[in-house]
Amino acid sequence: MTRDSPTDEADRLTRRHYVAGAGTLATVGIAGCSGGGDGGDGSDGSDGSDGSDGSDGSDGSDGGDSTELEIIHWWTAGGEQDAYQALLDGFREEHPDVEIVDNPAPGGAGSAIDTVVQNRVIDGNPPSTFQIWPGQALTPYTNEDLLEDIGDSVWDEEMRNAYLDDVVDLAQPAGNLVAVPINIHRLNNLFYNVSVLDDADVDATDIDGPEGLLGVFETLDAETDVTPLAHQTQSPWSSLQLWESIFIGEQGVDAYQTLIGGDVSGLEDEVRSALELLADYLEYIPEDAGSISWDQGNNDVIAGDAAFLHQGDWAAGQYRSAEDFEFESDWDMVPFPGTSSVYQSVIDSFVFPTGNPSPEATEQFLNYAGSVDAQERFNPVKGSIPPRTDVPMDEFGDFLSRQFEDFQNSNTQPPAIAHGTAVAPAIQSSLEETFANFNGNQDVDAAYDGIVNSF
Ligand code: GAL
Repeated sequence: MTRDSPTDEADRLTRRHYVAGAGTLATVGIAGCSGGGDGGDGSDGSDGSDGSDGSDGSDGSDGGDSTELEIIHWWTAGGEQDAYQALLDGFREEHPDVEIVDNPAPGGAGSAIDTVVQNRVIDGNPPSTFQIWPGQALTPYTNEDLLEDIGDSVWDEEMRNAYLDDVVDLAQPAGNLVAVPINIHRLNNLFYNVSVLDDADVDATDIDGPEGLLGVFETLDAETDVTPLAHQTQSPWSSLQLWESIFIGEQGVDAYQTLIGGDVSGLEDEVRSALELLADYLEYIPEDAGSISWDQGNNDVIAGDAAFLHQGDWAAGQYRSAEDFEFESDWDMVPFPGTSSVYQSVIDSFVFPTGNPSPEATEQFLNYAGSVDAQERFNPVKGSIPPRTDVPMDEFGDFLSRQFEDFQNSNTQPPAIAHGTAVAPAIQSSLEETFANFNGNQDVDAAYDGIVNSF
């Protein structure tokens, strides 16, 4: 099968590299670290992290006052680039004097960004701002005081009152506000190609739990030529997040909360059961799953070559940017079987690193990211709903309006492991290593041990 250009080629860089980076960040202060640059490990799938402006504040204190705003992010795949551009367009309208230096680190779920950002921050040469999940993912930075407190400069009272309280909490893991969340994605979605399912006489709304989904894969495999599940294994995060959904679908959210609290052995049978089912699912994925990115897999759903995709609703952003692929007539989504009252959330934010090369422009950008205008432009294209409660929803379209309703009716919005909010980065990295191995060998015993050890 031929594929479009690999947008997250850099997914090959696993979070193992992050472990090394995080260890450095956690144990060595800026002053004691000479850093190693960011090119040595092949992680720079971007256009080079040298797009900064020279006023690099290498003394680690005050970086300067450049009008160049360097942004590191990983939104190059699917429709994500369009969403990011919509955000920048809005910002430029308000601040035409600021020159944006775009510095992407492509790789789904940020698989390449950590090394780039951490080396820069440790070197005292941070970008103006970078994309990061709020919650636990921020802690290696807050532990080392590498993020500026923006509680006064950005988070005025109007903004605090407008945001959902739970999201504000995620922006202050150490008690002071250091991040500006911009979206809320749902993770527990099962997207599908409508005509593929119609042809196979499958009704997605009838699927009975995670085990029932396996039965549907078997039917599709026996009776059609399509790939049942458009899953990627080039990078481990998609299998990790699928395991999370299977676990919640089988055991419910209370058990999941116990799990992310670290009591894995108390849930041994439950954890193993989700691993066994995941191993069964992996028999129904593309032959070239090990060399594709999530959005390349999703292209198979769009083309009618694959039936289902388990993915965050950034996949809907990709459908929006596809030609002639319309919600309900061409694609649709059900909550992952067994999780209909759950809205497992994935959130992105931007931060203000210390030693900032462009304090004024960065503050302007963060202020903008927290505004109604920014969230109204960005989220409909991104496939997410806004964390502010006062954003008009008229332009969000039928799918996101339905997601928004589901969010409001959901009983619980647990954080995701594979997207940084639920567990500390060191645990996440170790789990990703476990699932990278599991993608290759489907060894349930080894994966169970790996999960126990990760926590
Ligand atoms: C998530 C991120 C989303 C989307 C996705 C796929 O971690 O929060 O915004 O980019 O990865 O790369």
